[in-house]
Amino acid sequence: MKIAFSGKGGVGKSTLAALLALAFLEDGYKVLAIDADPSPHLARLLEVEGEITPLAELTELLAERAEKAGPYYTLNPKIEDLPEKFAVTKDNLRLMVLGAIRTAGGGCACPEQTVLRRLLTYLLLTSKEVVIVDMEAGVEHFGRATLTPIDLLIVITQPFRGSVETAKQILKLADELKVKKVFVVGNRIANAQQEASLKREFEDKYLFSLSIDEELEAREILSKGLWDYKGKAYQEVKNLKKRLEEIISATA
Ligand SMILES: Nc1ncnc2c1ncn2[C@@H]1O[C@H](COP(=O)(O)OP(=O)(O)O)[C@@H](O)[C@H]1O
Ligand SMILES: [Mg+2]
Repeated sequence: MKIAFSGKGGVGKSTLAALLALAFLEDGYKVLAIDADPSPHLARLLEVEGEITPLAELTELLAERAEKAGPYYTLNPKIEDLPEKFAVTKDNLRLMVLGAIRTAGGGCACPEQTVLRRLLTYLLLTSKEVVIVDMEAGVEHFGRATLTPIDLLIVITQPFRGSVETAKQILKLADELKVKKVFVVGNRIANAQQEASLKREFEDKYLFSLSIDEELEAREILSKGLWDYKGKAYQEVKNLKKRLEEIISATA
């Protein structure tokens, strides 16, 4: 199962991606988390230590291998075949960082996106393995190429106009790109009215609501990660995980 998180900046993509990774780990899954945001946060949230070489540099490795033994990505790598250098391991978790390098004009991070797309396309997963991609905010540099091999795109929104508009733009793009499964998750939902208005807005695409959790805010202020956090938002994310597993097994 390959899952990506998208949405406006600050809606909770990294937090929910990290919590979902932890929920899968707790259930015995092997998790490959990929931080595709040019300002990465997953290592901090998942309390992963060690130097991670950005995946963008894999382009060089791919070129090298292509000269010798054909392109690496035609080999259909398994998670454990991924070059050590690019992934830091912690228990059953592996973390990779995309590390997009932008042109001065802020242009497309195309070579990095291509590497990520190839990796996602050719990676072979067992039923107890999951890939979680924390995407860059918004739609400006929206990883068009990256999305194609994704099984499930989760668009996060808060119950306010700005993030709802961004979510709608992302849904439109995902539709154009024919992403298989796309759902909206509401985060920091304070009451039933807020949830009802998101349900009206997104109709059958609306999957799940997460409430406000002050402990998350407190941890952020103390720069504490989420590895040992078992609070309210985590319990909710465990239910979200169940829903995702049902969706995937119903379509498998
Ligand atoms: N359900 C929630 N309740 C309270 N705070 C939250 C919740 N979800 C996320 N946050 C906080 O919101 C901030 C932004 O979240 P983050 O995951 O970094 O967003 P993004 O990755 O979309 O930019 C963080 O400080 C995080 O702790
Ligand atoms: Mg983030």
